[in-house]
Amino acid sequence: MRSLAVVHHRHEEWVIAIREAEPRLDVRGFPPRDPLDDAFLARAEGLFVWKVPAGLVARMPRLSWVQSAGAGVDHLLADPSIPPEVPITRADGQFGLWMARYTIGHLLAATQRLDACREAQRERRWDSRLLPEDLTGQVALVLGFGRIGRPIGRALRGIGLEVHGFVRTPRPDDEFPLHGVAELGAWLGRARVLVLCAPLTPGTQGLVNGALLASGHPRLVLVNVARGALVDTADLLVALDAGRLERAVLDVFAEEPLPPGSPLWSHPKAVVTPHHSGPSTPRAMVPDILPNLRRFAEGRPVVEAVDRSRGY
Ligand code: GLV
Repeated sequence: MRSLAVVHHRHEEWVIAIREAEPRLDVRGFPPRDPLDDAFLARAEGLFVWKVPAGLVARMPRLSWVQSAGAGVDHLLADPSIPPEVPITRADGQFGLWMARYTIGHLLAATQRLDACREAQRERRWDSRLLPEDLTGQVALVLGFGRIGRPIGRALRGIGLEVHGFVRTPRPDDEFPLHGVAELGAWLGRARVLVLCAPLTPGTQGLVNGALLASGHPRLVLVNVARGALVDTADLLVALDAGRLERAVLDVFAEEPLPPGSPLWSHPKAVVTPHHSGPSTPRAMVPDILPNLRRFAEGRPVVEAVDRSRGY
């Protein structure tokens, strides 16, 4: 029987779900801090983890697979303790659907003028000029168009927007026009909304900076469900203050939790949410991981490992 260590702050629920999905494994859970069971770690070949605690991998000489407890693996790829030959696999669960709901919810909050309607209601004021905005035919740009970006694109199209995807390597697509990331600036001036859902890689880090935002439409709504570091926060604040975009809906931040002193908390044009756009629950994620759990239990190599040179 092969052994899988689950090192996670909610390890109990993950262990139950993984054991149920693949009973042929010896699965044990630990919080991401000592004391960890050294005898178990010494024989465990698999590790299910979000952030790898310092010194953990050194205690796992037989490690042959790291399964991320989430979609983004930037922090795992940056972790020098994971040997380069150990495959890392990711899981997006139902993030595409969740993040589509998040995007649509926050976009409509702006365009249905929810704040103004609630304010009028508080004042018992019947304001027939409070019209919702017609989004039909308006342009939405989605950066990152894989298993997360595509459902977001579909949802935006479903409420009438013209959707364009932006990817590292443009390719013909039956459903949507896909462009190279380098073309983003050329499209931004036409866009009502830009959704960031690309992985954090050297190619996307700081991509949304002052120069890019300067080419944006002044009514642009920026939605970031990817990683905070895709956006240069100082440049974003300057752009918000200068009226270069209408609203920034931010679920992710370069530093999380967002520090209490961050000006984003009180900025009238920023919406701050606590990295909740894609909840990583066992129910949503285990079906994704199941094929590799089975392969691992049978001693076969895992599939769909992250391409380390690409960064996702
Ligand atoms: C969460 O941010 C994830 O990458 O799963």
